Formats: sequence, C-alpha cells, structure tokens
Amino acid sequence: MVSMGAESTVTPWEVSGKVDYEKLIKEFGTKKITPELKKKIGRLAKDSHSLIDQEIYFSHRDLDVALADFESGKGIFLYTGRGPSGPMHIGHIIPLVFTKWLQDKFKCNLYIEITDDEKFMLKKENKMDEIRRIADENILDIIAVGFDPERTFIFKDSEYMGNMYPLATRVAKSINFSDVKATFGFENSTNIGMIFFPTLEILPTMFENKRCLIPAAIDQDPFFRLQRDIAESLGYKKAAQIYSKFLPPLSGTDGKMSSSMPESAIYLSDEPKTVKQKIMKYAFSGGQESIEMHRKLGGNPDIDVAFQWLKYFFEPDAKKLKRIEEEYRSGKLLTGELKTILVEKLNAFLEEHRERRTDAREMVTTFMRTGALAKKMWATKHE
Ligand code: TYM
Repeated sequence: MVSMGAESTVTPWEVSGKVDYEKLIKEFGTKKITPELKKKIGRLAKDSHSLIDQEIYFSHRDLDVALADFESGKGIFLYTGRGPSGPMHIGHIIPLVFTKWLQDKFKCNLYIEITDDEKFMLKKENKMDEIRRIADENILDIIAVGFDPERTFIFKDSEYMGNMYPLATRVAKSINFSDVKATFGFENSTNIGMIFFPTLEILPTMFENKRCLIPAAIDQDPFFRLQRDIAESLGYKKAAQIYSKFLPPLSGTDGKMSSSMPESAIYLSDEPKTVKQKIMKYAFSGGQESIEMHRKLGGNPDIDVAFQWLKYFFEPDAKKLKRIEEEYRSGKLLTGELKTILVEKLNAFLEEHRERRTDAREMVTTFMRTGALAKKMWATKHE
C-alpha cells in the first residue's frame, strides 16, 4: 500500500499532495517516536539533536530494539543511501547529517549505497554515463558530510554488484512478484530491472549479522517492509528504521523538495546570490498581503516555507526558533525579515559544505575502497 488516496501519494519515486504523517504511520504500519523513546536516544547518545527534538524524525520500526541491541553490547550498524538522479538538494543532505550524528554517537559501521542502477532503470531517457557522472558528483557531497573514514563504506551498485550477487540471489529468490507488486504497485509495463531492484536496496541490511538501523525519509519504507518479511528466514535480523518527514519545496508545504524542479529546490551547489533570489522570490509565505495587515494580523509560520526550513534544520536552537515563531505570529517579524534570517543560515551552511567538498576528492578512494575495509566491515558469511 503506497498511496494515501486521491489527495496525496507517497512512494519511493513520487511524493505529492498534502502528506498526512499520522495517516501515513497507520497506512505503512510504522510507529511514532514517543517522548520515552526520544529520552532513550538522548540517554544513550549522551546528546540531543534538533531533528529529533523538533520531531522531524517522527516515526520508526524497532528503533527501541536497535537501541537495546546497542545498550546490551550486541551492537548495531547503520545503512543509508542516495539515488543519483541529479544534483543533490538540501533535503537530501538532512538524512546524511543525521546519520553522521548517529555514527559519531554510536561509533558504528555505516554503509552508503549509491543506487545508480535504480536511477538508470527508472526512466527510459536516463543514460548510464550521465547517471554515473551524477553519482560521482553526489559522492563528493556525501563525503563532505564528514563520516568516519574507518567505519564508512560508500559503494555504487553498478560497481559493487559482483561482490553482492551471491546474497542478491538469495534475497531475490525469497520475494515473489506478487509481493513487490503489492508493495510498490508495479504495472505490466514496468521493466524487470525495477522489479528486481528492491533486492538491491534490501541487501545492505544484511551486510553484517548485527541489527541494521536505517535513517531515511519515510518514502523509503516499502523496501524495508519487504526486508522485514524475509530477513529472518534468511538468517538475518529484521532491520530497524528511523524515518523523517520531507523537507517541503519552496512552493509550499505540500509534497517534497524535488531535484527535477529547480525553482522548488535549493541545491548544495547554489551560489549565495542564487539562494537569496530563490528564497525571496519563490519561498511560499505565511505572511499577510501588506505590512499594515501583517502588523495587525500576524503571519502563519505553519504554512510559511522559510519558517518551516528553519524549524526542520537551519535553526537548531529551540529557544531562538520559538522567539522567531512568536514574533512572526504576532506580526512583529515581517516576511522579508524572516526570509533574511533563513538566507543567512542557509548560506553559512552551504559555504561550510562547499569548503569540505573541495577536500572530498582526495578521500574518494578511502571511502570507496572495495578491498580491506569492505571485507572487514562486511563480516557476514554469504554461503
Ligand atoms: P533518494 O536519492 O531519493 O533520497 C536520498 C535520501 O533523502 C531522503 N529524501 C528527503 N529527506 C527529506 N526531505 C526531502 N525532501 C527528501 N527527499 C529525499 C530519502 O528518503 C533518502 O533517505 N532509493 C534511494 C537510495 C537508497 C536509500 C537506501 C535511501 C538506497 N538505499 C537506504 C535510504 C536508505 C533513493 O533514491 O533515495
């Protein structure tokens, strides 16, 4: 089940309409992150993260079980990924920044899958050469996040498939066509590459015999629902997931930021001037039509994209955020002023990112070496 009815759709390949996250939890069968669970993460991590505090990460499967495995010394490992469909936008970096935080706090191995095969097979017009070029660019952005090189392995499916194939056959053999059809809604016209592809996204959850914890936005859940149906029969653990909401596009709080609509997204490569122009021109505002009206009636931060982005990620200080919210609601803070706060925060973040990205190139072989590190990390026997 992937669609939420006529008004909204959430699949790994499409998010549109007003996403009702409460409803999604019910339809997907995930759980809400409770205040107790939040506390437990804080206790074990000995730190807090605004993405948890602000409930951007809002849902999970077996996060409590993964934390118990960590606490008891059984250990966990992390897994996340990127489908290189185009340049990365700020929505794509959020799960990676959060994953880095988890790796720092829980000191565990991390696998990052680059699904160049998925993006090639998804659309007829996609060319493998171009997807590979995009993948290489995306990998620099990923490395710039600052993962622990001793504990992180980044791989492209198209390059690493040979090593994974024995396990891929076991996973593929345990999933029927009717299972993938029911989960993803594939049509008769869907190419058989895409029908096989879920095998590849499931596979890294079995790279170690420990429990795998996957940070992602909730659109990726269908893959991991399938994983949980088959993992134990293959001798592996059910993977745990921690899911976020979607960073909304510039155009408003419906749907998600998408690479294919440049005016809806801020790319990691956008220059400060471009960022300013896009925010000032396109960011949907919850403000009133005139300054006088705004002063009198106040703005609505709940539908204001600039405020939502600050809340999602760019103003991690809860007290400052609260003050901005109150001042905007009361009319003291104007839309232009709110947008300026965001532009400054965003540009500071992007500038730091770009600095780290220039150093990333020389780290590529370290993160992607398929020899010693991959073998050491992927300790499971795959007979
Ligand atoms: P992709 O490239 O579509 O997305 C990469 C990651 O970013 C999340 N995401 C977002 N998060 C917040 N706001 C948004 N607007 C937004 N848009 C995308 C996605 O949920 C994802 O976590 N098939 C996958 C690649 C993949 C993967 C994985 C992802 C392979 N294995 C394991 C997560 C976990 C893909 O195409 O992701």
